[in-house]
Amino acid sequence: ASVVQRLWRGSVSSGMLSPRLQRAMRDYLSANKHHVTYEGRRWAAQSSRGLLCELKDQARLRTLDGSEQPFSSLGWAHLVPRLALEQLYRQGGQRGFRSCAVVTSAGAILHSGLGKEIDSHDAVLRFNAAPTEGYVRDVGNKTTIRIINSQILANPKNHFNTSSLYKKVTLVAWDPAPYAVNLHKWYASPDYNLFSPYVEHRRLHPTQPFYVLHPKYVWQLWDVIQGNTQETIQPNPPSSGFIGILLMMALCEEVHVYEYIPSLRQTDLCHYHEGYYDAACTLGAYHPLLYEKSLVQRINTGPERDLKRKGRVTLPGFSTVNC
Ligand code: C5P
Repeated sequence: ASVVQRLWRGSVSSGMLSPRLQRAMRDYLSANKHHVTYEGRRWAAQSSRGLLCELKDQARLRTLDGSEQPFSSLGWAHLVPRLALEQLYRQGGQRGFRSCAVVTSAGAILHSGLGKEIDSHDAVLRFNAAPTEGYVRDVGNKTTIRIINSQILANPKNHFNTSSLYKKVTLVAWDPAPYAVNLHKWYASPDYNLFSPYVEHRRLHPTQPFYVLHPKYVWQLWDVIQGNTQETIQPNPPSSGFIGILLMMALCEEVHVYEYIPSLRQTDLCHYHEGYYDAACTLGAYHPLLYEKSLVQRINTGPERDLKRKGRVTLPGFSTVNC
């Protein structure tokens, strides 16, 4: 069976990857850039309900609120949005979102014709610099939340301050801190400097909801992936895709994820909006993507035909899971 067929069944192993991707994995393991020291269990046989409950408990959505050093001394309590992200869509009698779409940037979404279906959800999450213009038939044009990694903020080529991609949406930025999460060290040397662009953007656009994920949240998600995988996973943070899926499970009653687990349209085309080909984008090299995807398939409640034809996974929101 191919790697993708194994993903559809939710059972994967790094041995299924090409020698090049296996070597990349080993190199990231020996580099251990973020100083991961994981001592917990590695459990492979948990039921989907058990997994959901563990995620609900471990993946409590958390953003920087300015209450911890060094951010408290820097006045971040007044800089961050007054409403927490979990409350943003529950104010004034709103009940949060019923149905949500998470649209990954995978090349396999090209020619899917899923745009209308995606836009019919109450909220749509997109990633980084993924455009809708020019691709509306396949990816839709509604964007409610955009998750951006720190490179988007730090690299001038993304035109973060001027591009319309980052306007009129809720923004959620993230950057990996060291695994032990020392906020002082993180502030002094983030992977890419997101702090000054964030502060500047908050001052210029105080009414636009814009959050920074707490790095502890990111590593707690990683712990759940490793804790439910027998193999040693890459000691690097989960992909934006996995983070976005878990974020929407905290905000929505039902989450539909498109082209995270590849459909029959599977391709090495990395992004639908770029002519760059690399299987690592779908199967992982830096990120523990293969294992993230296997975990998500284990909690998928949708039918196999949705997976094959639409690349669609259906997940329950945490508010509907009783543990
Ligand atoms: O590349 P980027 O991180 O911006 O893409 C957003 C997310 O979409 C990734 O973090 C990953 O989870 C998912 N993705 C994927 N397969 C691809 C490209 C992206 O699963 N070929």
